[in-house]
Amino acid sequence: MNRVKVVVTGAAGQISYSLIPRLVDGHTFGDKIVDLELVEIPQVVDKLEGLVMELEDSNFPNMGNVNYTSDFEEAAKDADWFLLVGSIPRGIVFNGKKIEERADLLQINGGIFVGQGQAIGRFGKSDAKILVVGNPANTNALIGRHAANNDSQLWMAMTMLDSSRAKSVLSKKLNIKISDISKMIIWGNHSPTMYPDFENVVANGSPGRDLIDDMDWINTEFLPVVQQRGKAVIDSRGASSATSAAKAALDTVIACENPTASGDCFSAAVITDGSYDLPEGIICGMPLMTSPEGKVEIVRDIVLSNFAKDKIKISTDELINERAAVEDLLK
Ligand code: NAD
Ligand code: LMR
Repeated sequence: MNRVKVVVTGAAGQISYSLIPRLVDGHTFGDKIVDLELVEIPQVVDKLEGLVMELEDSNFPNMGNVNYTSDFEEAAKDADWFLLVGSIPRGIVFNGKKIEERADLLQINGGIFVGQGQAIGRFGKSDAKILVVGNPANTNALIGRHAANNDSQLWMAMTMLDSSRAKSVLSKKLNIKISDISKMIIWGNHSPTMYPDFENVVANGSPGRDLIDDMDWINTEFLPVVQQRGKAVIDSRGASSATSAAKAALDTVIACENPTASGDCFSAAVITDGSYDLPEGIICGMPLMTSPEGKVEIVRDIVLSNFAKDKIKISTDELINERAAVEDLLK
């Protein structure tokens, strides 16, 4: 039987508590046996003993070997997947200052991804897939990818949660089931500048541009609600989204592990390569598909309106600024 080795950082955190059990429940990786490497900082790594006990006590059918460690290099050896959750969330007080925006986390979290990226490049499988969840996810992924210096590996930053949020808002507006919505593309940064593409989304077989003619609703409801949903959850819960973030990470893995249905696509941010005239060298939300051979590729035939191009530029400009702010980590 096939095996897959998955490394999860931030394994004692909120997202991971919802994420890790579902990696071994037989759904995410189908019938593959899943070996887990759970990584935490030395100060809390011992807490993972309790999580491992719970995993064992849950009798998950597809659970293989489970290790926990604070040694990322050791964990990275021959891993197929890296779910990089470990980092500080916003909403907390750090050095006496409340962290309001995800970009404010750059100086705190960015450094984590240098060492982890180097280890992934050296010790991870040559076709490893890496999903950065920790914020600011796009620029952290850029830092990690640069440090890994291994082009055969695929670095992604998570925008699936934004795509799920956009589908949820749209399904209520159109009074249809979420499962009737496909091709929900998130362009740009996982930040308030992200652009959820309401024109190319497909609902009940029709493109959004034919279904939604209410630009007032787009500008005052749809875009701001999706763009600011993370903050709304933090304001209410006093902690950032966790179970929905875990579900989105699992959905990203599933989307990469299985061929994409014809005409559909999924959302994640990957390194730009000139397609759609996006500035090169940033990790930008784009439409992706998984080929029948298992290769994750950019979907290149989406038509963008001038409205969309203007919105996307705001987000890519922000990503360029974030990149400049971490220049020292990209040497
Ligand atoms: P949390 O504080 O509950 O858990 C984070 C864990 O990471 C902690 O246990 C911490 O000890 C660990 N950690 C910190 N540095 C580490 C390192 N170098 N190696 C390994 N582990 C390390 O936070 P959470 O709610 O689980 O959120 C984690 C991150 O995910 C945050 O940055 C949050 O903003 C982000 N997030 C992203 C999305 C998204 O859509 N991309 C959604 C929700 C949350
Ligand atoms: C989210 O979108 O829920 C996460 O990125 C957490 C946050 O800081 O908003």
